[in-house]
Amino acid sequence: MNSKEILTSIAEEVSICEECKLHHYREKGVPGEGPPNAEIVFIGEGPGFHENVQGRPFVGAAGEFLEELLETIDMRREDVFITNVVKCRPPGNRDPEPEELKACRGYLDRQLEAINPKVVVTLGRFSMARYIPGAKISQIHGRARRVNGLLVVPFYHPAAALHRPSLRSTVERDFAQLPELIKNPAQVPEYIHEKKEEKQAEQLSLF
Ligand code: URA
Ligand code: SF4
Repeated sequence: MNSKEILTSIAEEVSICEECKLHHYREKGVPGEGPPNAEIVFIGEGPGFHENVQGRPFVGAAGEFLEELLETIDMRREDVFITNVVKCRPPGNRDPEPEELKACRGYLDRQLEAINPKVVVTLGRFSMARYIPGAKISQIHGRARRVNGLLVVPFYHPAAALHRPSLRSTVERDFAQLPELIKNPAQVPEYIHEKKEEKQAEQLSLF
């Protein structure tokens, strides 16, 4: 199967999946969408009200803001693959539970394997925790690193910036780095990021 066929097959599986209790609330599964050869994959949290109705990711207010942010770097949503850590809507938009994240994990792993993107952008805490457990988003947002062969860069969730306007410029700055990251993924100065962290840790240990 080629990437497109694999993604289509995953979408079909998601639409009838009963691996966790979120299927009880599902109107439409939201597997994610975008080109099978996308250079960037954005991973959000889970479908909200509108996403559950339409079966498409990020179609509400957060999605509109995500599109605006993409525009600032001359990209459109059609250029990137957009998905979530859980593919069915948690009722009332509650946080996804550990067993739901675990049950849904394989779908995203297979999507990433099929797409093989240059950069994975996590949006918010839940997708960040999948790659960088225990991290604080306020401390590591915008800093790329390699995790199991994937180039991962954690961003704030666009909904967070909608609720906290002071975050907006931070989120825009993080987005502004993306074109260079895609152009030069092999050049990510991993060690510089690591060193920065070490320095911070050292500084913290002085107190
Ligand atoms: N927020 C998310 O995390 N995902 C969506 O699909 C929509 C809003
Ligand atoms: Fe299946 Fe994921 Fe939906 Fe749970 S959230 S029912 S694991 S597709």
